[in-house]
Amino acid sequence: MAVDVILGLQWGDEGKGKIVDYLAKDYDLVCRFQGGPNAGHTIKIGSDKYVLHTVPSGVFRENIQNVIGNGVVLDPITLLKEFDQLDKSGIKYKDRLFIAMKAHLILPTHRYLDAASEAAKGKAKIGSTLKGIGPTYMDKTGRNGLRIGDLVSPNFKAKYEALKEKHLGMLKLYPDVDFDLAGEEKKWMDSIEIIKTMNLINGEYFVNKAIKDGKNVLAEGAQGSMLDIDFGTYPFVTSSNTITSGVCNGLGIAPSAIGEVIGIVKAYCTRVGSGPFPSELDNEMGEKIRRLGSEFGATTGRPRRCGWLDIPQLLYTIMLNGVTQIVMTKLDILDEFETIDVATHYSVDGANATTELPYDLCDGEIEMVTQSYQGWNTSLDKCDNFNDLPIETKSYISAMSSLLRVPITMISSGPERRKLMGVPR
Ligand code: GDP
Ligand code: IMO
Ligand code: MG
Repeated sequence: MAVDVILGLQWGDEGKGKIVDYLAKDYDLVCRFQGGPNAGHTIKIGSDKYVLHTVPSGVFRENIQNVIGNGVVLDPITLLKEFDQLDKSGIKYKDRLFIAMKAHLILPTHRYLDAASEAAKGKAKIGSTLKGIGPTYMDKTGRNGLRIGDLVSPNFKAKYEALKEKHLGMLKLYPDVDFDLAGEEKKWMDSIEIIKTMNLINGEYFVNKAIKDGKNVLAEGAQGSMLDIDFGTYPFVTSSNTITSGVCNGLGIAPSAIGEVIGIVKAYCTRVGSGPFPSELDNEMGEKIRRLGSEFGATTGRPRRCGWLDIPQLLYTIMLNGVTQIVMTKLDILDEFETIDVATHYSVDGANATTELPYDLCDGEIEMVTQSYQGWNTSLDKCDNFNDLPIETKSYISAMSSLLRVPITMISSGPERRKLMGVPR
């Protein structure tokens, strides 16, 4: 069987968690393949709301196995907090959660290095979530990292001490950041004792065996394609490959194993942290979207920057990912708009309008060519299936699908699991 992929086509927070949770019912395995606790995936089931950072969003479906792949960076302290949340809700996950031994560990000192690096950048800061993501991936590519598999090695303590000492040396080069290493280290050491009791696996064999046995596998992306380390708005990106190719590295599967690529697109656009955002509405309209959409980060609580849908940006990420279908989320947030604008082209430094993104979105003056669509100006709350939707909503979906040249197969009109409807082909 093939591995289907769900990932975000914008700057993250597209509603991936909700869609993974919904679609997980049709899969045997849900696997996170990159990122770490910088992710915040919200799932609302009835009146219960959960925010997952590392645990795959398939965990609420009984019988489904969940894999934290080798491409993920894992903070034992955060993971245990997630376990607490699941324990309190009576969700049984222990036998169904598998952690790849090649996944890298986030140490407390990685977090301090993240904070120090951001402080040193001043105004040019990335706006990192400060979860230690960048420094951990740096140690991975620098061949210094500690992996889950090292936890059971007899010289783990020595490896840990060596890496910690290296970090403490580096921290001296940076502006002072406050930290309580002794306290955090104790929590971290306690947490790894629990991680050691979990199902630690050779992830690449585990996932490939599942594929060979005919199981349905779903890969869950974190962040968004515009935050990809290679193709995002560098340097204002995260430190992993968030696009489809990251699934192969992050789980150890061949490109030929990839099946459907389901791109999640929010009906407008948001970004949290610094960096270019061409269709940003730094005005009352942006404020209105933020208010209606409750656009505040699930991990950090920071206000998200808001803007209209950006077609060139989406065409770019559709190309990079090989998207075969789109799920559009948060359509209900547009319920109160007379008209809905969409950026269709870019004009850079007065040149002819194009749908191609420039090398660097910070280079030159980008003017957006926009098109207005008739809003529906009514609540979608009572709409349970596509036929119930106002004609303007149907037209908007059809227009976006034509502009993007990919079918929109589902739309989401509320945070709850049940608020999802299929779009007839
Ligand atoms: P993720 O990181 O891509 O999983 O997305 P987040 O969880 O960070 O942010 C998406 C937010 O939108 C969460 O609060 C979800 O509960 C919420 N959400 C998801 N889909 C919808 C939708 O269709 N309508 C509304 N109103 N909220 C949604
Ligand atoms: P989910 O999976 C939105 C952003 C940060 C910052 C940049 C780098 O919930 O969609 P990092 O902590 O990786 O060093 O931050 O990337 N960022 C996200 N923005 N959603 C996310 O994840 C994000 N994860 C990282 O705000 O600008
Ligand atoms: Mg999120």
